[in-house]
Amino acid sequence: MNLLAPDDIWCFSFFVVKDFCRAKLFIMTSYVQKLCAKYNYELINIVTTGDIMAKELNINYQGEYSYTIAIRPNFDDLLSLLNEKVGKTYDNICIVTDSNVAGYYLKEVLDIFNQTDSNITSFSFTAGEESKNLDTVKMLYEHLIIKKFTRKSLLVALGGGVVGDLTGFAASTYLRGIDFIQVPTTLLSQVDSSVGGKTGVDFDGYKNMIGAFYMPRLVYMNLTTLNSLDDYNFACGMGEVIKSGLIADKDFYNWLKEKDVVNKLKAKDFEALEHCVYSCCKIKGHVVEVDPTEKGIRAYLNFGHTLGHAIEKHSNFSIGHGQCVSLGMVCASFLSNKLGYITADEASDITNTCLLYDLPIKVSGMTSAQVLEASKSDKKMQGTKIKFTVLKAIGEAASYLDFTDEDLVEAIEKVLD
Ligand SMILES: NC(=O)c1ccc[n+]([C@@H]2O[C@H](COP(=O)([O-])OP(=O)(O)OC[C@H]3O[C@@H](n4cnc5c(N)ncnc54)[C@H](O)[C@@H]3O)[C@@H](O)[C@H]2O)c1
Ligand SMILES: [Zn+2]
Repeated sequence: MNLLAPDDIWCFSFFVVKDFCRAKLFIMTSYVQKLCAKYNYELINIVTTGDIMAKELNINYQGEYSYTIAIRPNFDDLLSLLNEKVGKTYDNICIVTDSNVAGYYLKEVLDIFNQTDSNITSFSFTAGEESKNLDTVKMLYEHLIIKKFTRKSLLVALGGGVVGDLTGFAASTYLRGIDFIQVPTTLLSQVDSSVGGKTGVDFDGYKNMIGAFYMPRLVYMNLTTLNSLDDYNFACGMGEVIKSGLIADKDFYNWLKEKDVVNKLKAKDFEALEHCVYSCCKIKGHVVEVDPTEKGIRAYLNFGHTLGHAIEKHSNFSIGHGQCVSLGMVCASFLSNKLGYITADEASDITNTCLLYDLPIKVSGMTSAQVLEASKSDKKMQGTKIKFTVLKAIGEAASYLDFTDEDLVEAIEKVLD
């Protein structure tokens, strides 16, 4: 990190207290942006959309600018931002969405893209993980071929992680790759799946078995879409949010535990959500920049996922992903304490934080032997050993390879009812 020149310190102090003087910051925005660039700060932009400030984050891929994540309270500047960041004219644009999201937001997004000279179509499939497969991709390819989509066409993924993963995969393979943008509408997709370029579909009961690393051209998050999301799916996203704080940002994790913050996030307060989503994107963005193809620290994002996935699989995907991550985090916290890293109090504090956001800490209908068995088919196996993510401290993750089956069973039993 570069040191600040004395002349710039005043301005950066101003920047730090931005939450208290947003109006004044508006005047300073362009100067702050120049300073951020000068000192290579991670926060790239603060822009105004109407009366509300909104944030942007630039993500690099293999050392070069790849795409911008824009956090907004509406869809107002979707088109102008696409022009600004990508600056291309597309012959055809297809809005890909699912049957639930279509009812809420498809018309609004279609109206926006209909202002362009491109031919606009939409493709909607039945909502749910059951649709995340090659059959749906085939139907999408057919739609694109009938509508004469070319290499100069664009796909827009409007929906949760299922829509994002499937659309990104179709974009990566149609005509050997066409542009796509992510417009995530679930908390999980905003804080996790739309960032990092992992795309794919399930195959023959194997989750995310077929896929590609393929970067979107823009990620545009309208946080107001979360108002229509049900509590279960909101809690699901909170599982990944808590994980993000635990692996990389102690202050953010502590912020999540504040009573006022819990209430504001559950009430979908824009500023609280903005800080939450922005913090998670910053953490994930940093991890995927350093390790885009999961050869090293990207594994830290799997905190709570090894046993979480096993529980999810054993439940036949009837329990939500974030809910399983919560259960997995309880197990992984226990193991982190067993290694002498975090204290027993810190482990039980993690359990309490999951409860604050209505996430489960106990599960019934399975045995530890069944969960252990399911964990052995995890893609994160290294040889015969499971690469397990633990917490060295709150806000600091590490990998550990030497847990025995007995250790894992003991941890699984902590969450069995
Ligand atoms: N690519 C990655 O890095 C990555 C990371 C994590 C998860 N994933 C994938 O993400 C998927 C899960 O994502 P998800 O939890 O968003 O699931 P999802 O896309 O199925 O969305 C959950 C439900 O919410 C509905 N919905 C979406 N937005 C809504 C809104 N604004 N209002 C009302 N309803 C809305 C959907 O129709 C669906 O019924 C899984 O397939 C998982 O494998 C991918
Ligand atoms: Zn996850």
